[in-house]
Amino acid sequence: MSRAISVRRVTIEYDGKRALQGLDWSVRSGESWAVVGPNGAGKTTLMSLLNGYRWPTQGTVEVLGMRFGECDLRELRTRIGMVSSFLESWVRGDERVIELVVSGKYGSTRLWTRVTAAERRRAMSLLRVLGCEDLAGKKSRELSQGERQRVMIARTLMADAELLILDEPCEGLDLGAREKFLGGLSRLAKAKLTTMVYVTHRTDEIPEGFNHAMILKEGKALAAGRIEKTLTSENLSECYNLPVRLERLGGRYYTLIDA
Ligand SMILES: Nc1ncnc2c1ncn2[C@@H]1O[C@H](COP(=O)(O)OP(=O)(O)OP(=O)(O)O)[C@@H](O)[C@H]1O
Ligand SMILES: [Mg+2]
Repeated sequence: MSRAISVRRVTIEYDGKRALQGLDWSVRSGESWAVVGPNGAGKTTLMSLLNGYRWPTQGTVEVLGMRFGECDLRELRTRIGMVSSFLESWVRGDERVIELVVSGKYGSTRLWTRVTAAERRRAMSLLRVLGCEDLAGKKSRELSQGERQRVMIARTLMADAELLILDEPCEGLDLGAREKFLGGLSRLAKAKLTTMVYVTHRTDEIPEGFNHAMILKEGKALAAGRIEKTLTSENLSECYNLPVRLERLGGRYYTLIDA
């Protein structure tokens, strides 16, 4: 298996404060990773780094065989799918949902070419999978938060990305939409056709079949590796400074706090 992500001794500073501190991380193609950690741990910073939206202060980054500093980041971004609130803020609001979904294929939030019939069919089928095909003609600013999130997920899937980056993708989804989406991610993880990195605050939202995990704390990996060895009560208790108990049920992980 080839390497999908290689992060070596990466530090990222904002105004002199370190969001990532000498991080090492390696992901092989086809692996699916859950990334958990407290607010401010550096999760979103790390995801933005993978996409080339943030640049390391120190260290080297290689994603999908492309080394930062020596590659065309626009080309790299067409191979990466991303769902996050970070990207959502770039959406202008006056584009139609159908155009926004199709634009996912081109790695930008604006569409410069006309939508072809084949692209429209594919986009409509993705919107259908997410239960929101009736939104196709709406403008993106007219959507509720959960509707927008579903549309952004469809947009990401449009790209047939080699690497899928999901930063709290279930934020704002209702229970039915969430489970449907997690079921889809679970199938993708088991098929190992694409590499996935999934950031979440809730262990019960880690889809069944995800095989690796990283716990980030203060810009460092507190633990990383096979999910069953990494996602443990001990590691989570240390991460949150709380007596956490983790229960595994039907391939999903549930967090309880021991009083
Ligand atoms: N644009 C920015 N300018 C300055 N500091 C920033 C910026 N973005 C993030 N930070 C800081 O970097 C650190 C890591 O932030 P990051 O957004 O990566 O955390 P996170 O793990 O995603 O947190 P959350 O769970 O709240 O989403 C935080 O201390 C944050 O305040
Ligand atoms: Mg974040």
